[in-house]
Amino acid sequence: MTQNNRGEGTIEIIESSNLDTSSISISSSSIHGSGVFASRAIKKGERIIEYVGDKIRKKESTRRALRAISMAKKDPSLGAVYIFELDDTWDIDGNVEWNPARLINHSCDGNCESSVQEGKIWVVALRNISLGEELGYNYGYDLEHYAEHPCKCGKANCVGYIVAADQWDELRKILGGKKRV
Ligand SMILES: C[S@@+](CC[C@H](N)C(=O)[O-])C[C@H]1O[C@@H](n2cnc3c(N)ncnc32)[C@H](O)[C@@H]1O
Ligand SMILES: [Zn+2]
Repeated sequence: MTQNNRGEGTIEIIESSNLDTSSISISSSSIHGSGVFASRAIKKGERIIEYVGDKIRKKESTRRALRAISMAKKDPSLGAVYIFELDDTWDIDGNVEWNPARLINHSCDGNCESSVQEGKIWVVALRNISLGEELGYNYGYDLEHYAEHPCKCGKANCVGYIVAADQWDELRKILGGKKRV
């Protein structure tokens, strides 16, 4: 970890020099662009990869989130998906090229989730994952802008849009039985 100052307040950078990427590979995805795939069989509960990036305080995190929201207004296909909460003081902004976990696509039936363990953010398997399976988790987007984020996860239970699971009932009411508006 090193110290840096980009004129945005002091941040720490969690670098990838000792990042263990042995469980994943990056490849093109049928869902969108590039995706992250299991390069070995992974057992439920296993840590797959650490989610690294800029370690930032809440004030800087809010500033970056607001900037991402403003960019998303200009280009609705963008979403603020990279900032994860580490603890009450710190967040991790994973929107850096040395963080392969940033390429994990959204899935309505995810096989992994993020989890804070021993002061780090990990991508952890929710179930057994086969070699070659694409990793996916729920991005937890708010229902408000659902129409701007159609989901292409291809799962049998896909709700049609990238929306947090606790808002699916509301989404289904809006869609009235259709997959898309
Ligand atoms: C963090 S990136 C994921 C990596 C991305 N595939 C890439 O190549 O850069 C997030 C973006 O990927 C796309 N994406 C991720 N999951 C998706 C899904 N289930 N359906 C449609 N687009 C998705 C959306 O454009 C989203 O804003
Ligand atoms: Zn889906």
